[in-house]
Amino acid sequence: MKALICEAYGPIDTLVVKDIPSPLPGPKQLLIEVRAAAVNFPDALMVQGLYQVKPPLPFTPGAEIAGVVKAVGAEVKHFKAGDRVIALTSTGGFAEECLAEAHRVMPLPAGMDFEAGAALVLTYCTSLHALKDCGHLKPNETLVVLGAAGGVGISAIEIGKAMGARVIAAASSDDKLELCKKVGADETVNYSTENLKDRINELTGGKGADVVYDPVGGPYTEPAVRALAWRGRLLIIGFAAGEIPKIPLNLALLKERSLIGVYWGDSTKHDPAGHLANLQQLNDWFAAGVIRPVVSESFPLAAAKEAIAKIANRQVKGKIVVLPNN
Ligand SMILES: NC(=O)c1ccc[n+]([C@@H]2O[C@H](COP(=O)([O-])OP(=O)(O)OC[C@H]3O[C@@H](n4cnc5c(N)ncnc54)[C@H](OP(=O)(O)O)[C@@H]3O)[C@@H](O)[C@H]2O)c1
Repeated sequence: MKALICEAYGPIDTLVVKDIPSPLPGPKQLLIEVRAAAVNFPDALMVQGLYQVKPPLPFTPGAEIAGVVKAVGAEVKHFKAGDRVIALTSTGGFAEECLAEAHRVMPLPAGMDFEAGAALVLTYCTSLHALKDCGHLKPNETLVVLGAAGGVGISAIEIGKAMGARVIAAASSDDKLELCKKVGADETVNYSTENLKDRINELTGGKGADVVYDPVGGPYTEPAVRALAWRGRLLIIGFAAGEIPKIPLNLALLKERSLIGVYWGDSTKHDPAGHLANLQQLNDWFAAGVIRPVVSESFPLAAAKEAIAKIANRQVKGKIVVLPNN
């Protein structure tokens, strides 16, 4: 089978597609024919050796897939060959076939295609966990989403609206903000051309935002914290801008603001029941048409490294996917 291979940590351009033997599932594993594999920001960091997880070399990147079960290990009871599934894999997704641990596999919801299935779990689970479990977002509160047209950003807009908040989307271009409006943002801020703090204050009548969802970091975090209301909450999701900001803590003291870290992956181990409940909520919202993963582009396996470069270069709207078996 063909797979994208990272032979050494380094530039994305050094990734290669190769023929490698099909993997065999262990007792608690499934072998899945990959129909779609989503591209996520950590894929770009991982192949460059810049992510907190460094898989042993060589490895195939790709953390979330949707596809059809080809074979199951001896101890796998709830899935069989032919089932349509979604799986979180951490690595291995950009390949014609991929192994997944049974406890990280779920059925593809009825009515969902493989592209949307691959694009659902990581981003939407992160945003639901962040906004509900960490940020305690309440109806009628104001939520500001930074990097709002990116993968986690779009999901935060949709979930924020589903939870009854007023959502202000902030991004770097009018083109990206147009997509944010389309998925439900009430207001927008173009932080390339407008002052982020002033614009949030203007849009909230001087009160400030109740919750800021921040997957970007860099120069955007501090002005967003300064625009948080009394007892406002900053949700720290990631640092796509490449720089981890340092925030003066008097900004927290002065308005009893909270700076809250969000680590969805580990939260599922600490609270597996909560994670299952969140997955069920997402299924219900999908069935009701409340959330719809935005897949803006798809790539064949031969162009997977171009897809990874695109996310590293700030060029993706919503999610993009690789279709290894097309
Ligand atoms: N904490 C968690 O549990 C968790 C879970 C999932 C993801 N994450 C993290 O969340 C972050 C975003 O992930 P994502 O999949 O949404 O990525 P994404 O689709 O690439 O979105 C990130 C956004 O960041 C903005 N950005 C600003 N400066 C950038 C730069 N120099 N390079 C790239 N993007 C830049 C871009 O929006 P503008 O151009 O509009 O500024 C981009 O749309 C990543 O750091 C990821 O590791 C964390």
